[in-house]
Amino acid sequence: MTRELTLEEKAAITVGAGYWRTVAAPGLESIVLADGPHGLRRQQEEREDHLGLGGSIPATCFPPAAGLASSWNPALVQRVGAAIGDEAREQGVAVVLGPGVNIKRSPLCGRNFEYFSEDPLLSGELGVAWVRGAQSRGIGASLKHFAANNQETDRMTVSAEVDERTLREIYLPAFERVVTAEQPWTVMCSYNRINGIPAAEHHWLLTEVLRDEWGFEGLVVSDWGAVDTRVPALEAGLDLEMPGPQSDSVAEIVAAVRDGSLAESVLDTAVARVRALVDRAAVRRDPVSAGSTTAQHHALAREAATQSMVLLRNEGDLLPLETAQSIAVIGEFARTPRIQGAGSSQVIPTRVDTALEAIAELAPVEFAPGYALGRHDDADALIAEAVEVAERADAVLLFVGLPAGDESEGYDRTHLDLPSAQVLLIAAVAAVNPRTVVILTNGGVVSLEPWHDLVPAVLETWLLGQAGGSAIAEVVFGVVAPCGRLAESIPLRLEDNPSHLNFPGERDVVRYGEGVFVGYRHYETVGRAVRYPFGHGLTYTRFDYTDLEIARDGARVAVTVTNVGERAGAEVVQLYVGAPRGPLAVPRRELGAFERIELEPGRAQRVVFELDRRAYSHWDVEFGGWNVAGGDYLIEIARSAHDIALAGTVTLRGPRPRRLTLDSRVSEYLEHPVTGPILARATRGSVHEDTGHADGLRMVASMPMRRLMRFPGVGDGFRRIGLLLAVANNRVIRGIASALRRR
Ligand code: BGC
Repeated sequence: MTRELTLEEKAAITVGAGYWRTVAAPGLESIVLADGPHGLRRQQEEREDHLGLGGSIPATCFPPAAGLASSWNPALVQRVGAAIGDEAREQGVAVVLGPGVNIKRSPLCGRNFEYFSEDPLLSGELGVAWVRGAQSRGIGASLKHFAANNQETDRMTVSAEVDERTLREIYLPAFERVVTAEQPWTVMCSYNRINGIPAAEHHWLLTEVLRDEWGFEGLVVSDWGAVDTRVPALEAGLDLEMPGPQSDSVAEIVAAVRDGSLAESVLDTAVARVRALVDRAAVRRDPVSAGSTTAQHHALAREAATQSMVLLRNEGDLLPLETAQSIAVIGEFARTPRIQGAGSSQVIPTRVDTALEAIAELAPVEFAPGYALGRHDDADALIAEAVEVAERADAVLLFVGLPAGDESEGYDRTHLDLPSAQVLLIAAVAAVNPRTVVILTNGGVVSLEPWHDLVPAVLETWLLGQAGGSAIAEVVFGVVAPCGRLAESIPLRLEDNPSHLNFPGERDVVRYGEGVFVGYRHYETVGRAVRYPFGHGLTYTRFDYTDLEIARDGARVAVTVTNVGERAGAEVVQLYVGAPRGPLAVPRRELGAFERIELEPGRAQRVVFELDRRAYSHWDVEFGGWNVAGGDYLIEIARSAHDIALAGTVTLRGPRPRRLTLDSRVSEYLEHPVTGPILARATRGSVHEDTGHADGLRMVASMPMRRLMRFPGVGDGFRRIGLLLAVANNRVIRGIASALRRR
């Protein structure tokens, strides 16, 4: 039997032993945590550096989240999660630090490549899939960064000022979905503050919401270096501080328990959670043998990459190209691919496919770099050479994108533009060859202005991981059809983005002033044109939608989708809900469900969505919870947030009327099914005779009844208000009242 742990030992267990290890103690093993989320970054212990970023063991580099999310394919994401889980097991890693489900509030966030979407449902569903995959392999996930970590500027100190409704509807649901569906082994708190309180010390967030409301059973770990003061963090619900060792933290905890300011039971709870995590890791079965998965995982990385690309434009069906054509491949990225973003997620790939080599295997190719990455060259000469190559080719595949230094963990971008030399290159090449396809490489959204209209085809490939090069070749030659859809809007101008005036904030405070109107929720509500809307993406065939059926009060929606083109393809069927303008300001439409289907030409499929009340709910602070306002809800089946194929409505009943009091507003008395008619009758002719009683009362509708009664002359008309209240709030009297009314 192991002896009881001392206070010092217990305190030490709640802090890491090193960059990636937990503390070992009598009866407790140490386990290893390592970065994800799009591959394993297992740093060799002897190579740990002061930022934990140095050389790691090669691992499969899958497409980062920005790409993977464009697949809208949870089954695929689950397989990627499982593969990363297998590699983690191979390397003796117990917990992989991912996925990141933060919302892309601004296209400028330097870490957008690591996050899924601007939409919480899509982010949540893909997060669920990733965690399900990894944890199916006996490896724990670490859902991050909890919460409201939507920028890199001042990420360690900035306070995200977000109202509760916006938190509940936009910034928390992806976490909630993953926690309630999959119970990730760990949740990682973010660096920032939320409404003034550091995430690491946020009791409401880490305990009241996460555990008490959502039922989280795992362990809360800090982001690396997110803890300022250990005792308040422990009390808030932060179980494990990383990295360690931190003798200060241990001493702080010990002193606080000794002087009685920290209940030892709080420490015991955290220790028990570390122990539970270690125990979970210990029961991992049958280790996978090293190296056995490399080839399979590369193939999976390629499959994932083919589904991560979004064909934005394809005028005159330029794509797919015939393999017999002579192809000009232009752009350094074709030869030197950028496969992932910079920072803690950067893995060392097991191999890298280049598009140039993969395309050359399928067609006769001539290459010109077009621009230089890194070193400064003569841009004009590079463009002139590219133009010559473009002129004599049947078609041009023109690779452009963001240089690696433009986006990274740790800082945000300041604009959306491609490097100016690349914009000049696009114009010059398009002028000599009208069959030019622009192929974009970027983690965060880039502007397609002012060059978009110059080229007939644009393929957004995001960052595609180690097999992106061969995946691009497969897509442009139609070996596989492109099938990605945008998981974020591409605006016409940076200034159109709703967060623009409040990003990245000032003096360590960022106000989420746009509220719930993030991304397409804003663009669609105010009618702001975008270059390409959320959900958009083309393929090599077309789909028709028919027979929309809305049943069971909107709980079941069905539609038939038919492939009416010549080729097989995948469609992402999107369902949007537009709520009535009740007491809350609501977006014009919000993603309520989606399903990706694959169809052979000529084939049809009935797609059935099961929707719960939540799909129709908004967070109402007056109710302190989710609420469905009564009224007509628009249900739209769409190809994107802007391209609606079919629409119908469902009328939903609102909640039962609330108890009336003297503090209730006149409007609530008027809307109340019992007092409304009585009041209307009683006041008929007495208030604003010329405008009619309803309009007359509208003027004072927002007044609490108590206030209205204080107005001289008005109070008299409401003498029987006590009786009214009793009638409204008491069922027995209500029964009598309605019987009397009927007479
Ligand atoms: C990042 C986390 C990462 C951790 C460990 C932090 O800087 O924000 O996402 O998991 O470092 O590398």
